[in-house]
Amino acid sequence: MKVRVDPEKCQGHTLCAMAAPDIFELSEIDGHASVANEEVPADQEAAVKEAARSCPEQAITIF
Ligand code: F3S
Repeated sequence: MKVRVDPEKCQGHTLCAMAAPDIFELSEIDGHASVANEEVPADQEAAVKEAARSCPEQAITIF
């Protein structure tokens, strides 16, 4: 499983980082999320799915 954050859609709601803090990093400049590595470890898949569901902007894509 892989995950991506669409920087155009992200508005810095931070819910993704609360759901999966090991995966999503928040920019200190604008608070927008990014992922250091698209590959999601198996033990993080549930947290990443929860993050994608929780994003109000639907900025997170799982593929
Ligand atoms: Fe951005 Fe959505 Fe996370 S708006 S900071 S990707 S909850």
